[in-house]
Amino acid sequence: MNYDWSFPAMSSWHLHHGDALTWLPTLDAGGVDAVITDPPYNSGGRTTSARLSTTPLRKYGSHGDANNSSAVHRYVDFAGDNRDQHGYTAWLALVFSQCLRATAPGGILVTFTDWRQLPATSDALQAAGWTWRGIIPWIKPNARPQLGRFRQTAEFIVWGTNGARPLEGSVHPGDFRVEAPRARSGRIHLTEKPLDLMRALVRIAPEAGTVLDPFVGAGTTGHAALMEGRSFLGAEITEHYHRAAVDRLTAAAASPQGVLEAA
Ligand SMILES: C[S@@+](CC[C@H](N)C(=O)[O-])C[C@H]1O[C@@H](n2cnc3c(N)ncnc32)[C@H](O)[C@@H]1O
Repeated sequence: MNYDWSFPAMSSWHLHHGDALTWLPTLDAGGVDAVITDPPYNSGGRTTSARLSTTPLRKYGSHGDANNSSAVHRYVDFAGDNRDQHGYTAWLALVFSQCLRATAPGGILVTFTDWRQLPATSDALQAAGWTWRGIIPWIKPNARPQLGRFRQTAEFIVWGTNGARPLEGSVHPGDFRVEAPRARSGRIHLTEKPLDLMRALVRIAPEAGTVLDPFVGAGTTGHAALMEGRSFLGAEITEHYHRAAVDRLTAAAASPQGVLEAA
């Protein structure tokens, strides 16, 4: 992984190892400017046996991943990807309601999903009390082709605000066309998001503001936030990925400013 060392030096970060749902209530109310996150999609698996037998490695891994010996961190399964549709909606609403409490009035929530979970995600966002504002398509030109089917080229970024948001500041894109990270380019996480895309998203937070990601994975949102001069708060439940994210943000910050929390 090549790191860009050019971000402003004053950003701080904190990375919790554990369940977002028990950690979020410990955050100060209203201290966050933007929640930018990528929950486990819990996509597919219509039956109990399908949900219990399919793991993220089987779902998202590929032959190329297994043969990539250059990656420092080997992929492992991650937690929280086997809920059914109703369970997922209810659980995500609980997480998003805690995110709302932690976010300043007018602040933003930006969350990824796929075509199957788009309705569940927009329902959860609204059930949690966020005002739903729109959907931003993320087009992946390197999406896998499938014989006899339409290519699943898009994932979706659902966004909302904590109540009214003033019409001021800069204009942000309404869609993105960015390749998904590949194993051979040093991807750390099975469902890692592109750093350039995350950098564009975190710019919605004010300069020197605070970005929250309750589902850190390999820390792409945090890395992007530090590069863009924002501070970062995050949680990750899977120990392997928490460690990978700590390593990544430590390297990115290259200073003791980051606040590390032991498991
Ligand atoms: C889709 S991945 C995030 C990938 C990340 N955007 C990246 O670029 O690396 C979702 C992550 O949420 C974590 N997770 C699942 N349930 C969680 C929970 N209750 N609390 C905190 N993290 C959780 C999983 O372990 C997984 O690594």
